[in-house]
Amino acid sequence: MSIRDLVAEALAGIADPISGTLMDSGRAAGIVAKDDGTIGLVLSVDGLDKGAAERLQAQVEAQVRRVPGVKAVRLILTADRAAAPAGAARPVETTVPGIRKLIAVASGKGGVGKSTVAANLAFALARAGQAVGLLDADIYGPSVPTLLGITGRARIENGKLQPEMRFGVKALSMGMMTDPGKAIVWRGPMASSALVQMVENADWGALDALVIDLPPGTGDIQLTMAQKLKPDGAVIVSTPQDLALIDARRAIAMFGEVNVRVLGVIENMAGYACPACGHVSDPFGHGGAEAEAGKLGVPFLGRVPLAMAVRQAADAGQPLDGDSAALFDQIARSVMVTVGL
Ligand SMILES: Nc1ncnc2c1ncn2[C@@H]1O[C@H](COP(=O)(O)OP(=O)(O)O)[C@@H](O)[C@H]1O
Ligand SMILES: [Mg+2]
Repeated sequence: MSIRDLVAEALAGIADPISGTLMDSGRAAGIVAKDDGTIGLVLSVDGLDKGAAERLQAQVEAQVRRVPGVKAVRLILTADRAAAPAGAARPVETTVPGIRKLIAVASGKGGVGKSTVAANLAFALARAGQAVGLLDADIYGPSVPTLLGITGRARIENGKLQPEMRFGVKALSMGMMTDPGKAIVWRGPMASSALVQMVENADWGALDALVIDLPPGTGDIQLTMAQKLKPDGAVIVSTPQDLALIDARRAIAMFGEVNVRVLGVIENMAGYACPACGHVSDPFGHGGAEAEAGKLGVPFLGRVPLAMAVRQAADAGQPLDGDSAALFDQIARSVMVTVGL
């Protein structure tokens, strides 16, 4: 049994404060197990008073922590008394006034460089003269603040969240919503709605494109977000090895299910040139993502090498330069043509 299944089993053993068990009532959802043993899940505290919500939160944390292999638990609390029951999510208006194209960046797995690609795709679109926004929707591991060198919380003006402008890109991140280490409390039936609100209610102004860095994986949150936001296209990031590709295939299938066009696959961390001797090796294999894209009949957008410069630029909160920037300029051009920008 996977760690995720064990967590679901543990939750099924907890009584819902109103009726049934936490899993039956739909109060607990969107379970994500990260490789480092962190478990993320969404817990709706709808209809509970503060005390009951806190007791439930403590109980869930304690039970999940008891599952072997679990090192940390990150709960996202949502509350909305007016919410429809689980499974009958209220339809959300998806055409966002002022934003011409929504481009989702997704991956089946975490750690494949999805955020690095999302940020550099946004920079490249901005270099091409587009008005671009970048929304970091990765609730479990928001990394856009680091990638763009943003510190501090998001400002609110006139009741609207204000994205920060960096290198020609307007950015907003889940990481700008909370203090690190604190549970995120959102008003909304599910975390996916919270993210939909960040798209619809933040002060983006007029944008040609909003690039959305989705959480990794293909769980409820990703599926609901894809359904609600109806992006104009999705870019899938994968490393070349088989294990990552299996998950990338799942991500492609998920977008197929909700009729979101897959704009293409980007192979990241392909080929490593040793800085000392120049020898090129392939720690994660080579060409796997391209072959897979061919098999699935989706475009292959490009290969980003595993390079120290990529990691350094990312950590320094800077856009890539030189050859790597040129590579993203080319990827951005393909994306612009396919979505009609
Ligand atoms: N092509 C690359 N070469 C070297 N390091 C990379 C490359 N792509 C991403 N990284 C590094 O790998 C780590 C994970 O990347 P990130 O974009 O945060 O992945 P994800 O969003 O998929 O979890 C980061 O430290 C990042 O700097
Ligand atoms: Mg990320």
